[in-house]
Amino acid sequence: MAKIIVLMGAPGAGKGTQARLLQERLHLPQISTGDIFRSLKHSQTPLAQEVRDIMTRGHLVPDELTIRLVKERTAQDDCKDGYILDGFPRTPAQARSLEQLAEEQQNTIVAVLIDVPLELLEKRMTGRRNCPVCNEIYNIYFKPPRNDNVCDLHPDAELVQRADDNSETVRARLATYEQQTRPLIEFYETAGLLRTVDGTRDPEVIYQDIERNVK
Ligand code: AP5
Ligand code: MG
Repeated sequence: MAKIIVLMGAPGAGKGTQARLLQERLHLPQISTGDIFRSLKHSQTPLAQEVRDIMTRGHLVPDELTIRLVKERTAQDDCKDGYILDGFPRTPAQARSLEQLAEEQQNTIVAVLIDVPLELLEKRMTGRRNCPVCNEIYNIYFKPPRNDNVCDLHPDAELVQRADDNSETVRARLATYEQQTRPLIEFYETAGLLRTVDGTRDPEVIYQDIERNVK
């Protein structure tokens, strides 16, 4: 049976950072619904515009669309030995659909909560910068690139800031998390599927902890 590793945690907790390490070292695909939605950035369809508006407000994209995207993505061949979900599920309906999906795919779920106190999260998000080429995640306070504002691996690429990483949207995203996503922690805890790691430590130490918990 293959594993679905569900990375949970508030916005800015480090899901993307850890998912990238897991992908690289366990050779499982990282499926980030946020990244999928952001890839619509240059699309001019009404649907893409609607998704952009929702993200700018710090709200959630409707379940129906999100669930459909995850089903399609996880049906691809590279997911047959398992996969990492980063940012999904985020609502009870998404969690229920994942249970069903896991059953259909004959996969088991392990949920890992990256636990970070609220007061650290705002700085993590407002300080975040990404490489537009490889998506590597930096932080001007906690993980600065070697040279000012360019990727270590792509020196021609100026780092970019996400449109939803301004203080106002960050606050809305945190509120959305509290209302809609935090209850899922209890859902996975009750099901006996939850592991919790302290997300305030060095990313490499957190990684080792996660790897131990998902093996
Ligand atoms: P999404 O892209 O998933 O954003 P998020 O959940 O808000 O999480 P982030 O990506 O902000 O944080 P992260 O936990 O990945 O942290 P990271 O590793 O980057 O979603 C964006 C939007 O898309 C949503 O608001 C919603 O509109 C929509 N959406 C997505 N999924 C959806 C779904 N399922 N349903 C409906 N709508 C959906 O790290 C953050 C920063 O901290 C970085 O700068 C990093 O360098 C730094 N950092 C990381 N780890 C550490 C550490 N250990 N110590 C110090 N600094 C660290
Ligand atoms: Mg992320």
